Amino acid sequence: MRQIGTWSRLVIVTGLCILGGCNGQSPFGIFVDSTKDCAEMLLQRDIQTVAKTREQRFLGKVPDTTARCLGGKHAESLREGPWLDWPNYWAAGDATSRAPARLLVNAKVLGPNAHGINGALYELELQRIELIKFNLFDNNKTYEAYVTGRDGETGAVLNTWPEMRLPKTHPDFKAVGGDQTQVCRGALIRFRTLTGTCNDIRNPLMGSTHQLFARNVDFDTTFPDLGLNEMTKNRHGDRLGPLKPDPQVISRRLFTRKQSKPVGSLEKSQPDKCNEGYGLPGDAKEAECEYKKAPFFNVLAAFWIQFMTHDWFAHLDEGHNRPEWMAVGCATQLVKNIEQPLTGADAKKLGCRPDDKIDAAYIAEGTEPSSFTQGRKAYLTRAPKTTANNVTAWWDASQLYGYDERSGKRVKRNPKDQAKLLMQVGDGAGEGDKLGYLPIFEPGDPINPEWSGQEATAFPDNWSIGTSFYHNVFAREHNVFVDEFRKQATRTPDGDSGLRDPANPDAVIRYRDVTPNELFEVARLVVAAEIAKIHTTEWTTQLLYNEPLNRGMNANWSGVFAKQEVVADALKEVVRRLADTNDAKKANSLYAALAGGPGIFGLGNRVYEGVPLVGQFNPNKQDRWDLKNDDHINGGVNHFGSPFNFPEEFITVYRLHPMLPDLIEYREWNKEPNVIRHNVPVIETFRGKATEAMRQKGLANWALSMGRQRLGVLTLQNHPQFLQNLKMNRLQSPTQQIDVAALDLIRDRERGVPRYNEFRRQYGLKQLTSFDDFVDTRLLQDSPSRREQEQLVNTLREVYGQHQCDASKKITEAQLNDDGSPINDCLGHPNGSLIDNIEDVDTVVGWLAEFRRPHGFAISETQFVVFILNASRRLFSDRFFTSSFRPEFYSTLGVEWVTNNGPGPEMMEQGTPNGHEQPVSPLKRVLLRTMPELAGELQGVVNVFDPWARDRGEYYSLDWKPRAGAEEDEAFANKK
Ligand code: HEM
Repeated sequence: MRQIGTWSRLVIVTGLCILGGCNGQSPFGIFVDSTKDCAEMLLQRDIQTVAKTREQRFLGKVPDTTARCLGGKHAESLREGPWLDWPNYWAAGDATSRAPARLLVNAKVLGPNAHGINGALYELELQRIELIKFNLFDNNKTYEAYVTGRDGETGAVLNTWPEMRLPKTHPDFKAVGGDQTQVCRGALIRFRTLTGTCNDIRNPLMGSTHQLFARNVDFDTTFPDLGLNEMTKNRHGDRLGPLKPDPQVISRRLFTRKQSKPVGSLEKSQPDKCNEGYGLPGDAKEAECEYKKAPFFNVLAAFWIQFMTHDWFAHLDEGHNRPEWMAVGCATQLVKNIEQPLTGADAKKLGCRPDDKIDAAYIAEGTEPSSFTQGRKAYLTRAPKTTANNVTAWWDASQLYGYDERSGKRVKRNPKDQAKLLMQVGDGAGEGDKLGYLPIFEPGDPINPEWSGQEATAFPDNWSIGTSFYHNVFAREHNVFVDEFRKQATRTPDGDSGLRDPANPDAVIRYRDVTPNELFEVARLVVAAEIAKIHTTEWTTQLLYNEPLNRGMNANWSGVFAKQEVVADALKEVVRRLADTNDAKKANSLYAALAGGPGIFGLGNRVYEGVPLVGQFNPNKQDRWDLKNDDHINGGVNHFGSPFNFPEEFITVYRLHPMLPDLIEYREWNKEPNVIRHNVPVIETFRGKATEAMRQKGLANWALSMGRQRLGVLTLQNHPQFLQNLKMNRLQSPTQQIDVAALDLIRDRERGVPRYNEFRRQYGLKQLTSFDDFVDTRLLQDSPSRREQEQLVNTLREVYGQHQCDASKKITEAQLNDDGSPINDCLGHPNGSLIDNIEDVDTVVGWLAEFRRPHGFAISETQFVVFILNASRRLFSDRFFTSSFRPEFYSTLGVEWVTNNGPGPEMMEQGTPNGHEQPVSPLKRVLLRTMPELAGELQGVVNVFDPWARDRGEYYSLDWKPRAGAEEDEAFANKK
């Protein structure tokens, strides 16, 4: 165990206090606990601190004393195996995880429950700090400076890069300073630009369209299939290739949703009722595609995340890859560890298609990367191949508003009011229908032929009822904001709108002065920030449904001192000053830990310069934030030494296709919401058919249907059948079909994502040593779930195989064995023994096989660790979410709208869901504004992504039972 230094103690205390939700009270609960275990933990100094080197990092595993202190004997007994320890702490699960009632048990600060939650949060913060420290690898040629430093500055605190300058060919090259120091000013910094330039005013190119994806893993570990170095050769032998093991075989054996065997002779058998995900004619209710359902997350949540990914990243350019058609497997399988060709009969039995083809992935740079040395270690300057992000990386609602000239032209404004998006009023019965529906693409619009008939919007690819839903909702919301702004302008035309033009910063902009174009851009800023808030505080808290994550995510956004403005302001100032230091520890680690106090959102948007730190707590101190000061406009961002873009690995963990059902249980809000009227195949809403279905049935009915239905669990054998059998006319193959589940694996291989076990090691998680580690040993030996997991483990073994291990082969640089020795091919098994090819498992397959998860986690811990780093970074790096979240950019109404979830003061939910006083959630407010007809249905909804008719029960219950009034809902009659 490492010794604790002064700095580390500070981090521990801030971690406990800030993320532990100490609510302004004493953070020392954990230290004054009287229990023997906690005392022992402290005496033995069994508290993990930030690692100095990668091999020493915290792997989410704690000593016995810590486990006992934070979660009692229960937590201690579950320490075996590679999985995180904090989920077993007091109060980190449902009501049964709380310590039995006794003195102080339910207190916020003292007692086991508080310790369990604070301990979990401390470990999460520690992971985040270490991820920031060890997992940033930029591909845009800045990595060498990150490692070696520049002009006497440590690499980890660099905050401008020559590589992020606009090139001579860029139309704004001169405007930002040309060959001189480049700084964006004036019109370029006022709003979010179309291509995402000038978000960081000193790094104009960062995050803009076509910048390269970054990596979170050592470049040397990427592209394992190519066997470029000794370590990857040792790790995988010659077992890997672009189609090895065969991706379609993996898909059919490990991803296909099982359907019940035929029942009765007269009825259609179950697989026929599913019809490969294509359902029955006329959206017949009798159609059925079985899937494993998550009780606490709904179909709206599945489509929400697709809507988000379309904003954040796209490997495809205008829905296309490289025009080079390649085979996609269904050719070989392992039989007793030997690769054999698949016969036609084998393929038929499996259900795969050898004749499928897909266009190859784009590669931006494929030449051999240069290298450099630091100390005596050699480093690559980038990954062996790189790929580009073809949309802006910012959370800027680019899927709605555009990310380049062509996509921008697809966005239609109302010709009568340029501040608004064009909407066509529907003839539906709902109040919201008056707000209209997005118009349909017209012949002259810049689109691919397959998108014709769809609603006009910037990102039209893979369109379905779910994307149509959110695009319509937020187009309505855009216009509602404009209307509200206009109402204010009518009331007080000479009033100060709060807006300022950076080109003329001293001139007050009155409501009457705001042009339609300006108002359009203000509405975009507001909608993008609302979306980010919904995602952070509503979607994620339901995805990770437990108390530590609820506190952590809210701390990420508004901080644990949200209700104590003076304290939050003081901490913001501390954090702002920390960013301005050359000490990497302070600028990064302490900064990240402390940012939980005031929250990341709005960091640096007030400046109390000249006021000493003690004076920061004076409520009358003066905010000196100034639009003429570049350091104020940009001062809240922190990139931690590496320019922001998503890493390739981020896309891997967002391959969430199993969340989709094959069929949508269609209901109607103004008849009897408890009745399922049709089973509509998702594929029958693909592309233009989505637009038709949206207009025919109406937004509110789709909201109700997808709001009540559970989504698919992210686990093995739970992929939608329609995606395994997707028909696409553009495919140049005899079948014109593609298995998207298999393609998920192929794309990761093409882009060099490390395989599962090394992926975990790189992210600071413990490795697995055999497929058996996947089995959730908390389940009873003969329980059906455990038996199913054991069967799947056997299938994994058959598909990926085993080999005779060689202990002389070192396989990783990322971690060491507990005794300090290198990790070798035998993973702790005797030399020469037959071991599982766990190293070869595709990362998506690995995280789907994680049967053991923290309570209420819809995702695995491997996916989660990728989010910890990147979800924070996309807030930390964005000026419009930090120092430029100000009325000068958003207007006074806009700031209020984002802060209070709509116009007027914040509205509160009734009662205290999961023990918290809670504002009416941001998405619920959006739905109430855009579909007022759903007010009755939404009354009992606390989180829009929790199935609407579910009784949330007490403290993070996952039970599937109906709330009052929904007892007749058919979804509860069928327990499947
Ligand atoms: C009707 C619904 C959907 C359809 C038809 C669909 C289809 C596809 C297809 C065809 C691709 C492959 C593109 C390629 O690499 O050639 C893809 C990629 C992807 N899909 Fe989906 N998908 C759907 C829903 C979702 C959902 C709900 C998610 C949830 C996050 C999702 C996440 C992704 C991601 C992350 C990629 C990779 C994108 C990239 O490489 O930039 N998809 N999808």
